[in-house]
Amino acid sequence: MIRAIDWEAFKELRGGEKREYFMRDGNIFHVVMAQQFDRPFLDYICDLTTKIRGIAKGNQGMLFLQSLLQTKRAMLYFVQPSTRTFLSFMSACQILGMRCSEVRDPTTSSEMKGETQEDTVRTFSSYVDLTIMRHVQERFAEKMAWLLNQTGRPVSVINAGSGKDQHPTQALLDIYTLHRSFENYGGIDGKAIAMIGDLLRGRTVRSLTYLLKNYDGVKIYFVAPRGLQMGEDLKDYLRENDVDFEESENLDEIIPLVDALYMTRIQDEYDQGDESKKIDYSKFHFTGDHLKLLKPNAIIMHPLPRRAEIRPEVDQDRRAMYWRQVRNGMWVRVALIAKIFLADREIMNY
Ligand code: CP
Repeated sequence: MIRAIDWEAFKELRGGEKREYFMRDGNIFHVVMAQQFDRPFLDYICDLTTKIRGIAKGNQGMLFLQSLLQTKRAMLYFVQPSTRTFLSFMSACQILGMRCSEVRDPTTSSEMKGETQEDTVRTFSSYVDLTIMRHVQERFAEKMAWLLNQTGRPVSVINAGSGKDQHPTQALLDIYTLHRSFENYGGIDGKAIAMIGDLLRGRTVRSLTYLLKNYDGVKIYFVAPRGLQMGEDLKDYLRENDVDFEESENLDEIIPLVDALYMTRIQDEYDQGDESKKIDYSKFHFTGDHLKLLKPNAIIMHPLPRRAEIRPEVDQDRRAMYWRQVRNGMWVRVALIAKIFLADREIMNY
């Protein structure tokens, strides 16, 4: 039973109380923020993803997956640009047999006639079982999940990126990529991970940082230009959870110390003026020369899209994982949607 609560009070809920609000009968229902996920959930999603990839290798397996959610429909409401997240979610829905609708350009919706975003999302819920949303506003998906929980038709919400704030499903695919990469090297526990670039405005690094708290003995290096360092809220979160971290502006010094480098582009779409143009971002680019500094079993990640943060010559190195991340994203999203709709047991028993 969902408790009625106003938005201002809901925003202030912390930890478990808020997490409960995104669950239904003990199962995940809304995917809104990375803090929702605990270690058992992360381990399970990784196992489920690997199982799905195995099943999908054969035609019979693909037909089985397509039979699972044929009666379900999804809306992809993406009013901020996207290539990977949009296409991988649409592919994930299709792999599970779901039918999809989309709104990518709000000028084609009744928002242009003055309809509020709240009413727009509530309208979607009349037609679909799941709304996947990307929006420029921070906490947009969280607010829509709260809103739908107050209605008589609370369909699931997945946050596919909310402003500078969170990108929880990107973080899940990043965890899966780390998990697979370190499967034979002791797992993610105890690893040193560097996040590089615009950490202040990058939602992928924020969500991944939240998730890394679930692993023992992880050390995080935040490597960023002055003024674009990781936000104080995230650093406080790490301190509260006893996660070791260090800040730096020197990429060359950090590369030899880590097991994973997570490169990111400058998020200049959030500039107020021309502040990004004043930053020498080239010091935060990974070049072919940097490969010599990297540990033999370390990996290079990037959520993409990239500009010049990773030179194309690096792509051929076996430690470059960003194209695998793209592919992993689709399979992790299949696993997540299957979990939301309780199709995961059938998959695990296949
Ligand atoms: N990583 C990511 O979110 O990519 P898109 O913006 O292309 O969806």
